[in-house]
Amino acid sequence: MAEKILVLGACGQVGTELVENLQKIYGAANVIASDIRKSESAVFQNGNFEILNVLDKAQIANSFGKHKPTIVYHLAALLSATAEENPKFGWELNMDGTFNIFDACLEYGVKRIFWPSSIAVFGPTTPAVLTPQSTILEPNTIYGITKLAGERYCEYYNARYGLDVRSIRYPGLIGWKSLPGGGTTDYAVDIFHQALKTGTYTSFLNDSTTLPMMHMEDAVRATLEVTNAPSDKIKLRSSYNIAGTSFNPEELATAIRKHIPNFTLEYAIDSRQNIADSWPDSIDDSVARKDWGWNEKYQLEKLVANMLENIQSTNAFKG
Ligand code: SER
Repeated sequence: MAEKILVLGACGQVGTELVENLQKIYGAANVIASDIRKSESAVFQNGNFEILNVLDKAQIANSFGKHKPTIVYHLAALLSATAEENPKFGWELNMDGTFNIFDACLEYGVKRIFWPSSIAVFGPTTPAVLTPQSTILEPNTIYGITKLAGERYCEYYNARYGLDVRSIRYPGLIGWKSLPGGGTTDYAVDIFHQALKTGTYTSFLNDSTTLPMMHMEDAVRATLEVTNAPSDKIKLRSSYNIAGTSFNPEELATAIRKHIPNFTLEYAIDSRQNIADSWPDSIDDSVARKDWGWNEKYQLEKLVANMLENIQSTNAFKG
């Protein structure tokens, strides 16, 4: 049977690039992108798009009934910084949205669902270097709390109802085709656009804030690989650690200066520093490597060269 793919929260940073890849793999006619509003990106002009709010059960029933998706990617959520501004809504969207979509997946017989977790499940008491798969999980942001609860919920729905759910803990994601919105790691995308446009950037995280990061191409590939792996390879039904590379703003600036020698980095620290300080420096992803063959392609230098080259050639920094 041909697959029918439904992506919720499709217009975000991950969704935009994921939908583009899914259209290539399954054909645009078999991919339905949905979000609370349509973005300008060409990806959504060329394929199926519908307005869908994951808090609206009637809209969900209508969409699942109409399309009968076989694979669902549920990406609708508030990220860390935005959720801190409105914790009650952060909880509501991230949790009730997940409850609604998981129930619809069971009711409409969806074969597989992908649900994204984050390095935000870790907190100040977690070992920060090469953070293990199973470790202390005491997040102190509302976003991290929803991601941890969501992971537990994934495992529960798999064990109790047999929902074939797959998940990875995304690090900060860095791509040139889409912009992040409301995250703590957003500086690591913005810095490339500003470096090309103005030659300078003001970072809201301090120079030594090392965080796990990943090129979007790796992240999309990880998402597709974990979702399409044979079920018996997915031994963890909570969420897998995956790692790409790790760096701090100063190290990123040094790598950018290899291409733009006069690039300057300044600092104006804001409340996102507290969030970043609670997250690990680097991730041990050996379980994902063993279970389903995860392997990253981008380390810092390659990531920087790729970002600068693509932003420049698409003139994205002028926008
Ligand atoms: N990049 C995300 C954020 O900063 C982490 O999941 O919120």
